[in-house]
Amino acid sequence: MANETHRVIRPSILYFGTPVVLLTTENDDGSANLAPISSAWALGQRVVLGLGTESRTARNLAARPDLVINVASPELWENVERLAPLTGAHPVPESKRAVYRYEPDKFAAAGLTPAGSELVGPPRVAECALQLEARARALTPGGAGLFLSVECEVLRVHAAERIVVPGTQHVDPARWSPLIYNFRHYHGLAPEVGHGFRSETAGVAAGAA
Ligand SMILES: Cc1cc2nc3c(=O)[nH]c(=O)nc-3n(C[C@H](O)[C@H](O)[C@H](O)COP(=O)(O)O)c2cc1C
Repeated sequence: MANETHRVIRPSILYFGTPVVLLTTENDDGSANLAPISSAWALGQRVVLGLGTESRTARNLAARPDLVINVASPELWENVERLAPLTGAHPVPESKRAVYRYEPDKFAAAGLTPAGSELVGPPRVAECALQLEARARALTPGGAGLFLSVECEVLRVHAAERIVVPGTQHVDPARWSPLIYNFRHYHGLAPEVGHGFRSETAGVAAGAA
């Protein structure tokens, strides 16, 4: 509201509500790592990720660029949260030791199911309705060495039948909802308030009026 009063605050985190993705990457021994990430956004057929430098995921991508960006939906929040205190990095980096513990089998720990990918090595997460097979094309250091911006080229998109508008290539926004990480709380999407002028699904999607 225009007449609202604002005050200056210094929040410890700035997670203002972004979708949660589960990244699968390949470890040195060929096994799969699985990690929840909320710094992810798409531009065309590329997705840019923000990854902590000390994560196993960042190290894996620097050595082997294949990954799957598995987009989580709200019913998976507890599976995501089971992964929250875990890292595939061994030994656990000093900066993470107070909070994280090493876990080599993240799929089992999360109660999620690996499914073979078609173009890349790491598996997809079967429970995720949207799975993007991808390859990291550029890793750019940022945050005084704290994180990497990773630009990924999406090679193939797998979408569960139930979220695709029949007979089209479009995801039905009425049937798909991302899991949103909102200041360390998990949310689904609230009901639609409108659509963009370039929408390809207005009038044809299940929820369209
Ligand atoms: C919901 C959620 C969102 C997260 N978002 C990010 C993120 O955007 N970038 C990041 O580097 N770590 C993020 N993390 C923390 C990583 O999951 C954590 O560092 C984890 O240890 C990485 O696993 P890895 O070391 O096996 O790669 C997030 C964790 C949770 C639970």
